[in-house]
Amino acid sequence: MNILSSEWTTGLYLVAAVCFILALKGLGSPKTARRGNAIGAVGALIALVTVFLSTQLDNILLIVGTMVVGAAIAAPLSRRVQMTAMPQLVALFNGVGGGAAAIVALLELPHVESAGASLAVVFTVLVGGVSFSGSCITFAKLQGLIPTKPLIFPGQRWVMALVLVAAVALGAVIVTNSWILGATILLAVGLIAGVLLVNPVGGADVPIVISLLNAFTGLAVAASGLVLGNVLLLVAGTLVGASGTILTRAMASAMGRSVSGIIFGAFKGGSTAGSTEISERPVRSSSAEDVAILLGYAQRVIIVPGYGLAVAQAQHTMAELVVTLEKMGIEVIFGIHPVAGRMPGHMNVLLAEANVPYEVLQEMDEVNPQFKTADVALVVGANDVVNPAAKSSPGSPIYGMPILEVGLARQVVFLKRSMRPGFAGIENDLLYEDQTTLLFGDAKDSLTKVLTAVKNL
Ligand code: TAP
Repeated sequence: MNILSSEWTTGLYLVAAVCFILALKGLGSPKTARRGNAIGAVGALIALVTVFLSTQLDNILLIVGTMVVGAAIAAPLSRRVQMTAMPQLVALFNGVGGGAAAIVALLELPHVESAGASLAVVFTVLVGGVSFSGSCITFAKLQGLIPTKPLIFPGQRWVMALVLVAAVALGAVIVTNSWILGATILLAVGLIAGVLLVNPVGGADVPIVISLLNAFTGLAVAASGLVLGNVLLLVAGTLVGASGTILTRAMASAMGRSVSGIIFGAFKGGSTAGSTEISERPVRSSSAEDVAILLGYAQRVIIVPGYGLAVAQAQHTMAELVVTLEKMGIEVIFGIHPVAGRMPGHMNVLLAEANVPYEVLQEMDEVNPQFKTADVALVVGANDVVNPAAKSSPGSPIYGMPILEVGLARQVVFLKRSMRPGFAGIENDLLYEDQTTLLFGDAKDSLTKVLTAVKNL
């Protein structure tokens, strides 16, 4: 339908672009994230409707049919997904975006007229292919379909070098000849490169790579905007590329890594591997009643939540415990590590769901100096983010990652189910320290028992 004039189309694209920018701004804080998300969705809807009303579309039934099938799969999937499985879902959606950009650019190749546009096609096809296959591998790793440990084979670097040379050579031919078969081969090369790029990355680095691939998809989409002469795709792709890059850097620095170290270190076989050996040293375990006494007679308690809190869905019980302790005159604050859980902001989202006020959530730099004045550090389902190996064991996969210094508190209480390690697969020496007490069990059960015991004090 060619209902909208080009002025209206441009104007509506501008409105959509502003929505995307406001959405990103809103997503920057837990307080405004919901609104940001809604504004982004409105922007996407405006963009979609504008395309339909401003373009003479062939195959309209096929397009609408495909959209209905896509929505029918994606909507229930997004509704049902567990918060802990969110990174996989993001990886999957992101990969599909990159793949779509690559296919659109491939189909546009016969229509492009300038060498610049052909170059944009080459870039989109290659990077979109890398993003698609790389995202599929990260999805499979996080979903446990393939091992999360780095997969390396002899001569991997040479194969990667060969793939890059092939990509450059094909790219040069496509730019000069608009060779459609060459572009299809280039897509296959991109898919292989994506697998080679992500396979050697393991353990805790996988989510950083998801974010990196997200940035790649943004760049591919921006380049496809150049190919199609569509300003909105250019703006939206650039925003995704820029925010993905910023998030990648922020996650990498929170984990004490450099992005290049993750990619190239992985090629040398140096990405996080971890070992799951558990030593037989004695630990001090105690009952919920003992933990309640420790908490009830404390003046200052710092709670450190982690992935296990999300698994147990214990946030509401935790919030109730906090209210009860506060009524008893005990000061309670939360120490939030930037990579606690399995996605950026995971703990903030979880605690916001339980209406824990933002004022009691403190970030790592703010809370760390306060552990030495805390009577109890209550670690609920966290492990790697408090593991002193990050400071003391140069060979450890988490070495260099800043941690929450719970060991400085007078007493440390861990709520976990077993002696199993966390995501990085390494033992935590703090579990064996004299000032440490372990309360074994599912975090929700343990917190419920502790709450009852605190109320009975
Ligand atoms: P982890 O180090 O993974 O430790 C989680 C702990 O929770 C484990 O000790 C586990 O011990 C316990 N747990 C699991 N289920 C539980 C349950 N139902 N009840 C009680 N405890 C339970 O978590 P963390 O300290 O939050 O650190 C996060 C890790 O994930 C870091 O290594 C980080 O690099 C990585 N990572 C982070 C992200 C982002 S962006 N946040 C994304 C991916 C990976 P038991 O099994 O003995 O119970």
